[in-house]
Amino acid sequence: MHSCRPEVVDDNPAALDVLWRALEPEPFGPAVRIRAVMISSVDGTTAVDGLSGPLGTPTDRLVYDAMRARADVVLVGSGTALDEGYGPATVAPVWTDRRDRAEPPPVIVLTRNLDDALLDHCAKIGSGMQIAAAAETPPARIAAARSAGVCVHVMGKGPFAQSLRDLLAELGAGEVTFEGGPRLLADFVTQGLVDELVLTVSPEIIVGGRSPGLVPSHTLHRVPMRVAAAFSCPRGGLYTRWVVDHGGRNEPAGGTVSDRTYGTDGVDGADE
Ligand SMILES: NC(=O)c1ccc[n+]([C@@H]2O[C@H](COP(=O)([O-])OP(=O)(O)OC[C@H]3O[C@@H](n4cnc5c(N)ncnc54)[C@H](OP(=O)(O)O)[C@@H]3O)[C@@H](O)[C@H]2O)c1
Repeated sequence: MHSCRPEVVDDNPAALDVLWRALEPEPFGPAVRIRAVMISSVDGTTAVDGLSGPLGTPTDRLVYDAMRARADVVLVGSGTALDEGYGPATVAPVWTDRRDRAEPPPVIVLTRNLDDALLDHCAKIGSGMQIAAAAETPPARIAAARSAGVCVHVMGKGPFAQSLRDLLAELGAGEVTFEGGPRLLADFVTQGLVDELVLTVSPEIIVGGRSPGLVPSHTLHRVPMRVAAAFSCPRGGLYTRWVVDHGGRNEPAGGTVSDRTYGTDGVDGADE
């Protein structure tokens, strides 16, 4: 009988294959593919007591680890790196055989200010954690980080999206996992920096709380997407992979799947 429930994925070997395949990007698309990995509750809450971990499930952990195992670079914002106590990326044993390189991806932390807390944190971690500083980052902060042994990449002066894609291309990154927080995700989405969204919907509704939604912003910006994969888990969470329609760039030759063209409507404090 036909079921409306998405396939349930556990951590047995056959299910791991299903999960890995669900996260496989299509063969077409940009050379540098930025794939945001996020978790929210059904209502869109992204953190409990300032952390995303309490929303997780064992299957979410598998998805998160799989995305790191696929990645050439892990990108994150400085707030997330510090709040969540980021260390160097490791490749989880369950995915090691599928990764096609021995070394884990570097974690690259985005910053404009490069303040002491971030500098000290990265210096303590070592080469597994690098910094991508905005063009406007004070040169003295960049010099201080470099003399503390931190690898600092400085982005170009042009538009942020282009500068970041140029940096990632220079680093030879094909699959980039973006683990930044919701405010940074909103900036990324608005600036066309997200090619795919791997979204875990945690099986709960959280009423109240002060966490931002998935993409908080004062400006309305609508982005067409299509679902590329969806599955569930024994605990009832939902795991989805969405591909952003950048006007054809992420679509097979022959046209887009959507004829909608959404953009910025510039609505302040939108309350649709
Ligand atoms: N639910 C989830 O999946 C999830 C995922 C990740 C994080 N979180 C939670 O989200 C919270 C933090 O999120 P957030 O939205 O504030 O994002 P974030 O990941 O902390 O990124 C924000 C930071 O990125 C840097 N940045 C912003 N724009 C930049 C640019 N154009 N160039 C270079 N650097 C730039 C700034 O760093 P400087 O201040 O250093 O200049 C900014 O403070 C944490 O509580 C975390 O636990 C939830």
